[in-house]
Parts: sequence; C-alpha cells; structure tokens
Amino acid sequence: MTQSPISFFATLQPQPADPLLSLIKLFREDGRAGKIDLGVGVYRNDKGETPVFRAVKAAERKLVETQATKAYLGADGNVAYLDRLRALLFAQPAPSDLVGLQTPGGTGAIRLGMEIANAARPRTRIWISDPSWPAHIPLARIAGLEPATFRYLDPATGLVAFDEVMDLLRNRAEPGDVILLQGCCHNPTGADLTPAQWTEAAAAMRERGLIPFVDFAYHGLGTGIEEDLAGVRIIADLPQYFLAYSCSKNFGLYRERVGALFVRTGSTGSNLAVMSNLALRSRLLWSMPPDHGAAIVEAILSDAGLTGQWQAELAEMRARIRGVRALFGKVPGLAVLAGQQGMFAQLALQPEQVQTLRTEQAIYMAESGRINLAGISLEEAARFIAALGDGQAATS
Ligand code: LMR
Repeated sequence: MTQSPISFFATLQPQPADPLLSLIKLFREDGRAGKIDLGVGVYRNDKGETPVFRAVKAAERKLVETQATKAYLGADGNVAYLDRLRALLFAQPAPSDLVGLQTPGGTGAIRLGMEIANAARPRTRIWISDPSWPAHIPLARIAGLEPATFRYLDPATGLVAFDEVMDLLRNRAEPGDVILLQGCCHNPTGADLTPAQWTEAAAAMRERGLIPFVDFAYHGLGTGIEEDLAGVRIIADLPQYFLAYSCSKNFGLYRERVGALFVRTGSTGSNLAVMSNLALRSRLLWSMPPDHGAAIVEAILSDAGLTGQWQAELAEMRARIRGVRALFGKVPGLAVLAGQQGMFAQLALQPEQVQTLRTEQAIYMAESGRINLAGISLEEAARFIAALGDGQAATS
C-alpha cells in the first residue's frame, strides 16, 4: 500500500527577498517612463548604461583566440589570476604566510572566509559596522559566527565615528574577535577611514590580538587604484587577517562572479592547514570557481596596454561619480556627500518616505535610504533632488 505522502517542505517558512536584489525585479517591472534606479550597486554611465569595459571586450577577444581548453582547474581556481591580484594588492614581495584562492565573487570570498574563521574558532564574535552591507550579518550567522555591531557613521560630519571604532578596538572587542572592515568606499555610507586612522586602528588590533576581515569590493572607485589601497596595505602588515576581494565593480564583471580570498595565516607552518581547509570547503560549496571572468582579469593585468585601458576606464567612472557627488553636495543637508567616497550614500529617509518616492515618483532605492550615486545620470540626479524637496533629506 502506498504511504500517504508527507509534505516534505511544509516546515519551510517563506523568507523575505534580498533587500537589494529584489529591487532589480521591481524596477524592471515598473512601466512608468522616467523611472529612476538608485538601488543595487551597479555603475551606469550618463546614458544609464552599464557597458562592458573596452578592456574586458579586448581581453575576451584575446581569450577566444588563445584559450586552448576549458578543462577543470583545481579548487584554488585560476592561479595566474591570483598571482596578478597578489601583485596588484600587496607590497612585494608578498609575505610567505599569505595564502589565497579564487572565489565566485566577493560574496563567495566572504562566505568562505567566515566559514574558515568558524572552523578555526567556532562561534567567534565578528564585529560589523552599523550600518553595513545587508548581507554581512546573515553571512556571518550562516557561517556560525556571532555577529555584533558597532556604530560607524557620525551623522553630523558624514565621516567615520572614529571614537566609536577605537572604543570597539580598545575596549569592547575581546582578543581573538574578528573585525569586519571595508577596504574603501564603505557600503552604504561612503565614509572611509583616513590613512592615519587605518594606522591607529591597525595598531590597536595588533596590540589587542584582534583579527581584521577586510571586505574590498570597490577598489579603484574611490580616489584611485593606488590610493584606495592605503588601508589594505596598512592591515597587510598585521600578522593575521582575511581579505575578501571582488572584481564585480572595478572590472564591471558583476555576473561573471570573480573574486578572491586571501588569508594571512601568521606563520608558514599554518599555511597547509589553512589552505587545505579552504580547498575542502570550496570544493563542497562550489567545487571550483567559474573561470571566464578570472581569465579576463588575468588577461588585462598581464598586458600593459590592457591594464592602461582598464585604469583609464576606471578613472572615467570615478570622475562621473565625483560629478554626481558634487551635485548632491550643493543640496542643503547633503553637503557631506561631496567629500565621501564611492558609489553609495546613506540618506536619512524613513522606510515610508522611501516607499512614497517609489509609488509616487517611480524612484527606487534601498529601504534603508541608501542610494547608488553611480547609477544615475546628472539629469536624473537633479530630478531626484527636486523630488526630495528642500531640507527633507539629510545624511543619517
Ligand atoms: C550592493 O550592495 O548593491 C552590491 O554590493 C550588490 C550586492 O550584491 O548586494
């Protein structure tokens, strides 16, 4: 006799949609002319397009001509790509206790790094700025870590609330805790530590035995490729840290999922244990990372002509973002935006105001009030500013 079927999935509860990715669909389905997308962090030019980088197109042509096989690579992915990133990111020679592997995007790197942190020290506390990228806390939780938050932005100045950061590092965090920091262009506030602040924070972390976990997703979108590395280079002197890197934005390779995780292990004697744990876990998560995007980045960074072209394209993007920031900076209450970095800014809007802007004006942004300044044309920015109304918005 057949058993009456159990409802296998009845225990699952519906989950809220990802707050940023769900905006892509909502915006796409809105038929209103003149709709404005300030949502997910994707760069657009002044015509509203996200074109493939010219350097990427050239690298792809080269790959079509020269790539001889698509056979499997190992669990650590494209080793030539990793070598190029190592040379780009770290002072040379890179320390011998630095291990790395390719990951599917920055999110893959964060997830894998957090899994390894938890495997090494289960339920370790990880301190995450408030506010931060909305996926940071759930990623920490699903990896088994215990997220806690620290206040990050001083609303009066639009700068980092550095006293609070130092209070965390000196007093609140316990030795062995992990501190999640963003390398540059903080998402969502646009407020970054200055090089002097990075130095002070790094000294406190060294002294107190805290482990930095740097999420570096916007390299080159702030002040410059070299300048944006200032914080990472200071952290890279510490004996142990994680660095999660993304090529989504700075190479425009969003959907190709190109990233890397670097871990400084503290001693070459730990390299094998750390690397083999990374390889095992990545095998069980994604088997091996997708190669196409990594091969593109490798082709660009191994060719001086293509590297120069990529640098020039990134410089164009920075100039456009600065132009939009300057426009916002003239609005009463938003002056701080002109001095902040990268794609994002946090406006002091309530969820109801965000909702009203969406329903009445077809203006889309994250419910938190975060806006993507790199997503709008100057003309759209002017319209958005008008819609906000005089004095209605201020940074929070
Ligand atoms: C964002 O914050 O909008 C981007 O980092 C895209 C993403 O994956 O959320």
